Amino acid sequence: MGDMRTVTVNVGHTSYPVFVGTGARRELAAVVPASVRRVAVVTQDSVPAGLIPSFAGLDVSLHLIGEGEDHKSMATVETLCRAFSRAGLTRNDLVVGVGGGMVTDVAGFAAASYHRGTRVMHVATTLLGMVDAAIGGKTGVNIPEGKNLIGAFWQPSAVACDLDALGTLPEREHRCGSGELAKYHFIAREDLASLDLSGRIARAVEIKARIVEADEREGGERALLNYGHTLGHAVESLTAYSIAHGEAVALGLLFAAHLAVRMGRIGEERLAQHYEVVRGTYGLDVRMPPSIPFGELVEEMGRDKKALSSLTFVLDSPAGLQVVPDVPVGVLEAAYGDFLAENS
Ligand SMILES: NC(=O)c1ccc[n+]([C@@H]2O[C@H](COP(=O)([O-])OP(=O)(O)OC[C@H]3O[C@@H](n4cnc5c(N)ncnc54)[C@H](O)[C@@H]3O)[C@@H](O)[C@H]2O)c1
Ligand SMILES: [Zn+2]
Repeated sequence: MGDMRTVTVNVGHTSYPVFVGTGARRELAAVVPASVRRVAVVTQDSVPAGLIPSFAGLDVSLHLIGEGEDHKSMATVETLCRAFSRAGLTRNDLVVGVGGGMVTDVAGFAAASYHRGTRVMHVATTLLGMVDAAIGGKTGVNIPEGKNLIGAFWQPSAVACDLDALGTLPEREHRCGSGELAKYHFIAREDLASLDLSGRIARAVEIKARIVEADEREGGERALLNYGHTLGHAVESLTAYSIAHGEAVALGLLFAAHLAVRMGRIGEERLAQHYEVVRGTYGLDVRMPPSIPFGELVEEMGRDKKALSSLTFVLDSPAGLQVVPDVPVGVLEAAYGDFLAENS
């Protein structure tokens, strides 16, 4: 396994490895602390069983959770914690999430809660999980009142981004991860397109890690990770999720670039680079549904829980991405016209 890369995340008073490469799941067993006797693996039916690492000499139990956001719930967490208890898991043992963001969010939150905090490791099996969800320590579940409204910051003690997982990943899931990957090109302002996929994933992990290290609880810099997400979230919810998250983020990146041009923050050349990365590098040729009026979009963007005020955007500039508050609706509307001309 010559191509294995290790990114170290230093957060709070701990630090942990993220292994990126083919077969990365096999790196986890070596970093399991000696105190661990039992391992509770949390995964889903659709995640190929071959992606579950083996932990020789340890007592391993398997816990399947449902698929889809409806199962990302307190009920699932309760079921898991009860099963952990029946499997004899103590607070010195280990939870291992093997799956996409849904599994790692739920397994992470169950681990954060079980015995007031039990060690967790992740094998990220979706592209989105690798470059986003499994990194950074945000865990949680949905309630009918909102997505991810209950959760905890709980850092894993190791993560594996195993490229073996990508072979079975459905096309739609691949596109979701691609939208997030595209985002990192602009956060880092460097040419990720020249790297192979493994290198790009490792670099994205590193970029997210550095941001989380500087701002674990999302006071400032972590907001930059939401580049493309203000319009993205609104498009997702106004299309009842028929446009997938990563595709919506791709649209959001392009809209944000048009907005930055309108505000005199970047020039046409930088706008063109956004199109090159989104459509060229990642092949995300997504179109805006014609049924969404501008007014509804603005209202929906104002509802975005991650927006600092109703018209705050993360926007590009020659100095990099910045949080820009108080963007006037008139400017938004003009930029939206420019954006629609290219994307409908
Ligand atoms: N914690 C964070 O910082 C963070 C960041 C972004 C997203 N998220 C969360 O992540 C979730 C979305 O995660 P996702 O996009 O990875 O989707 P997902 O975890 O729901 O996975 C999508 C589907 O693909 C299947 N699957 C997973 N790996 C597979 C593989 N290798 N081969 C075949 N099928 C596979 C899953 O079983 C599932 O049915 C959302 O709940 C979102 O809120 C969390
Ligand atoms: Zn996202």
